[in-house]
Amino acid sequence: LTVALVGCGGGGTATPQGSGDEEAAPADSGKVYIVGTEPTFPPFEYVDENTGEIVGFDIDLIKAIAERAGIQVEIKSMGFDGLIPALQSGNIDIVIAGMTVNEERAAVVDFGPSYWEAYLQIAVTADNEDIKSVEDLKDKTVGVQIGTTGAFKAEELKAQGLVKEVKTYNTVDVIFMELIQGNIDAVINDLPVTEAYMARNPGKIKLTGEPFEGEEYGYAVAKGNKELLEKLNAGLEQVRADGTFDELVLKYFGGE
Ligand code: ARG
Repeated sequence: LTVALVGCGGGGTATPQGSGDEEAAPADSGKVYIVGTEPTFPPFEYVDENTGEIVGFDIDLIKAIAERAGIQVEIKSMGFDGLIPALQSGNIDIVIAGMTVNEERAAVVDFGPSYWEAYLQIAVTADNEDIKSVEDLKDKTVGVQIGTTGAFKAEELKAQGLVKEVKTYNTVDVIFMELIQGNIDAVINDLPVTEAYMARNPGKIKLTGEPFEGEEYGYAVAKGNKELLEKLNAGLEQVRADGTFDELVLKYFGGE
């Protein structure tokens, strides 16, 4: 354990400053870091139907990182649009949620290095014949998850007159139910996640058009929490170096 050095040498007058507790306290002992996520985003984070537990690539990843970093973590489910505010207010310590690194977010929280590359793409029902590209959304209603890059894209298209209506949902599972039931015409969502919903609803959903420009996922901590971010980043490096990362890719993406 750390030993606090009381009174620095150097022959000068050592003025006592504070108690020295900051240095003497064993860092982090017993602290449990709260990891916020929004678990309708398979295979990155979803609720295991049998156990009710939150599982997925991101969850295994952050647990492996935490283990290497020597910290304890606990997973907490919340609304996607509540994740960044929760980091800012200190209600949670870490976000991992298939969250795309972008300028707006990076201005208010600190991201680790990118760990995944994804794309937004349009999805429609399998029998849809009239939406073949983004140009076909002009008179259509598009469903998106609140606060996501898919929502930003849809709003941007709407502002350009390229989408008629944007319907915003709290969770992704409901968006695909709405699509299948015919309550919306299309969905703009992250490609790997839409593929997971396609697999869950065989023959019901298909991708259409071209993927939009690439996005990168990163985990985040509160702005300025350098100490925690450095621990996590070192953990990620180890998880990559020792093959754990590739094992998780194989487990959740079948070796993609
Ligand atoms: N990548 C997108 C974004 O950052 C969607 C993330 C949604 N994640 C989730 N766990 N529901 O906006």
